[in-house]
Amino acid sequence: MADSPPIQSRSAVFRRSFRKDFPAAVRGEGVYLWDAEGNRYLDLAGSAAVNFIGHGLAEISAAMAEQAAKVEFVHTSQFTTPVAEAYAEELLAFAGEHFRGGAVYFTCGGSESIETALKLARQYQVEIGQGARHQIISRQQSYHGSTLGALSVSGNQRRREIYLPMVREFPHVGMPYCYRCAFDCTDGCRNCGQEYAAELERAIEASDSTAAAFLFEPVSGATLGAVVPPPGYLQSVGEICRRHGVLLIADEVMTGMGRTGRNFGIEHWFGNDSQVAPDILVAAKGLSSGYAPLGAVIASRKVVDAIAAGSGAFLHGFTYNAHPISVATGRAVLRHLREKNLVEAADSSRAGTPAALFKKALEQLREEESVGDVRGIGLLWGVEFVADKASKRPFPPDRNFAGRVGAAALKRGLLVYPMQGSVDGISGDHLLLAPPAVINAEQIAWSVDQLAASIREAQSSLSLSLR
Ligand SMILES: Cc1ncc(COP(=O)(O)O)c(C=O)c1O
Repeated sequence: MADSPPIQSRSAVFRRSFRKDFPAAVRGEGVYLWDAEGNRYLDLAGSAAVNFIGHGLAEISAAMAEQAAKVEFVHTSQFTTPVAEAYAEELLAFAGEHFRGGAVYFTCGGSESIETALKLARQYQVEIGQGARHQIISRQQSYHGSTLGALSVSGNQRRREIYLPMVREFPHVGMPYCYRCAFDCTDGCRNCGQEYAAELERAIEASDSTAAAFLFEPVSGATLGAVVPPPGYLQSVGEICRRHGVLLIADEVMTGMGRTGRNFGIEHWFGNDSQVAPDILVAAKGLSSGYAPLGAVIASRKVVDAIAAGSGAFLHGFTYNAHPISVATGRAVLRHLREKNLVEAADSSRAGTPAALFKKALEQLREEESVGDVRGIGLLWGVEFVADKASKRPFPPDRNFAGRVGAAALKRGLLVYPMQGSVDGISGDHLLLAPPAVINAEQIAWSVDQLAASIREAQSSLSLSLR
């Protein structure tokens, strides 16, 4: 077994780890962050697919200060605010035609938004006379948040394991993962989408009319590392859910707000087909680009009407719903990303965009001995590592290969998001990469060079430790 790193200095802040040193961040600008010792880091992970517009924009902090000076807080049981009303209209328009006439529920982040969406789906079913429907079907190898409700629908084994006795278990179905396809496809996974969708249909049928909703990430986030679904899969999923009276909830916490080169990731697969498009979108992270805690549940008209015309009140709430400073931040971020055409910048299929350059540069990593797969879309990419390319055998998990690459990159001033568990929840190493859309060609070239060097360094440190 690898030795555990020693306990680092204690802090009054309950940090994420007692075995790691955390530099103190003091400044951000564009794609860069600086620590208190003057070290500069290029943020190739957008922290954790959070920052999309770049760090340190004065116009965003000015919008926050302006709102704070007007009214810093009101409780949503007593007031609405002009800024929340205006921003909700703008977000509905941004979400597209299918969400016209819908409504937006604002929260403080992804997990709160997932909790909200799950309860909204349940209440919708009750309102339309389907009171038996309460199960939420989701997918293995997914991540939907860290609160207990969100963990119950997540499939990330490492993050759930010790809490399992505390969570309510619902069915999890398989997730298409073409690099390690469960159907051993020989056609580049052109047809297996239907097999995965059929698994969902069987789970819905087995639930005996108790399924309320199906929850999915359009492109998988950290758990699998930017796995893009095979052709036809999501359309079939939408069609199956519609046919069985099951709501479709897209978790766009990572993929929303331009990250994949579309306003929301679902647009790659659903286009304008409102017959099968999701009923509820969940957004966070890029929504405020990290400038303030903010999440949103964007509900289609069908869902909102059921409650408005039924009991008339959503039985749910947090003190900080639609916090005025957070929604003012989100509104300023949306204005900025539109003015600067950042959704287009994140479109990897459009020649010359930062996303297209990033995609091309990352492809070079396939030449590295330990890189098994490079996958993704827009500005959301995953690099999977293997001990043997031909068999796709992963590294032993206790060697923490992804962590080694992350540490080597950090030493070079590059921030990436290392993860483990892609193969079976425990083994399998990968990185998630999600830079701000303001990254330029020179920064991309430098980052990918540093990443290649970090991968080689991790390889040689592993060979030494195995001797
Ligand atoms: C797809 C997805 N859903 C939900 C969440 C939870 O969001 P938060 O950490 O803001 O609670 C995350 C966080 O990484 C995520 O990636």
